[in-house]
Amino acid sequence: MQPTRVTDLIRLDHIWFRSQFAALQSARDDPGSLTSLWATLSARLEVHAAAEETLFYPRLLKDDSDSVDDTKDAIRDHNEIRDAIRDAEGHPVSDDAWWKAVNATEHANTEHMDEEEKGPLIEFDDAASSGEQEELASAFSAFETEHAGARGISIEDKDPEGYIEANS
Ligand SMILES: [Fe+2]
Ligand SMILES: [Fe+2]
Repeated sequence: MQPTRVTDLIRLDHIWFRSQFAALQSARDDPGSLTSLWATLSARLEVHAAAEETLFYPRLLKDDSDSVDDTKDAIRDHNEIRDAIRDAEGHPVSDDAWWKAVNATEHANTEHMDEEEKGPLIEFDDAASSGEQEELASAFSAFETEHAGARGISIEDKDPEGYIEANS
């Protein structure tokens, strides 16, 4: 059954990200699998960040006036993850430089997910009504379906201060 809280959809994506980074490590000797695992995982990381920036963080900012610093941290983290993905794209799959960039992506993403899970997701669970959670859950999953494969989203870094201004 589809979760009815956007925060649970985000948590489920995080679980999937952890499993796919583990799958990459298990496929170390198989460049074909690495190529397809990474293509799927990197696109999904982009779409997840875009969905959070389009739907989740603007609403967190409205519902919880103390969320400005956490939101700026999240945008900075998303930029770091995007940069590491860009770096990986500049190297042949399974080269040392590719692994270095993939490991940097995993490191940045793992830290970021831990922070989101300890801060913003809990803050939103406390601040949002069940109706708002449900409304955002369906918008979030529609966004991820519409933009699957990172179709039609911006993968450019965002200025954290400008983002807060635009969404306050
Ligand atoms: Fe995030
Ligand atoms: Fe997330």
